[in-house]
Amino acid sequence: MPIRQFQAQRMHAPRDFQMISPDPICVEIGAGKGKHALLFSGQNPEKKLVAIERTREKCLAMHKQHVLEGQANLQPIHADAMPWIVHALNPAQVQQFFILYPNPEPHNPAQRWLNMPFFEFLLSRLQVGGTITLASNIAEYIAEAEQKLIEVWKLPFVKEVIAETSARTHFEIKYLQRGELCQQLIITKPEGYRTRFDDFMPLQGQSAAQQIALTAAPEKAE
Ligand SMILES: C[S@@+](CC[C@H](N)C(=O)[O-])C[C@H]1O[C@@H](n2cnc3c(N)ncnc32)[C@H](O)[C@@H]1O
Repeated sequence: MPIRQFQAQRMHAPRDFQMISPDPICVEIGAGKGKHALLFSGQNPEKKLVAIERTREKCLAMHKQHVLEGQANLQPIHADAMPWIVHALNPAQVQQFFILYPNPEPHNPAQRWLNMPFFEFLLSRLQVGGTITLASNIAEYIAEAEQKLIEVWKLPFVKEVIAETSARTHFEIKYLQRGELCQQLIITKPEGYRTRFDDFMPLQGQSAAQQIALTAAPEKAE
């Protein structure tokens, strides 16, 4: 069954939303206390990383460490990633997305990233050849994501086992110390891949009149 269409035009801007520049960027979703964001931005000074975390205390911890380390190419954002992405990002602006150890949502599988209609919107923001790194310690989460990539999203990916010595995030360290198997999917957007949001400009970049027109005439769901 095709996934229903994400209602992007209904997303309200996050509180205190500020537009970002339209340059190519990397985006981490659910960055926690920012361990990976700080490492990645330090190791890749030529890349700009936006690290989004919706839990205030965790985002504050990331912000504090960022002030100490001072990476000029890192921007921590306290927000829900979905409305922030809809309001901030241009089509094909993103070089890499990172979703590392997302909440497994055991009681609400529809809320897992690849099960949500929002995932189509996320794909529209990714540039051709861009990647999404999805890591988890839950084998079933990875297996379900693989199935969705094949049957629904029709995207190429590789599956990797994460080395026991890896220490990119606080959750990764915890799971590997417990001896759990951690895996990741590296998903690539191929040339010619189309989504229903490829022409959807960020909501904050549109005039009020355009937004009203969009709300009045949403695209038909398939
Ligand atoms: C299990 S934690 C993993 C944190 C970090 N990536 C790590 O591996 O240590 C998942 C994180 O995703 C955040 N999160 C979940 N949904 C989110 C959303 N829609 N927008 C922003 N952050 C989200 C949660 O607040 C939580 O901090």
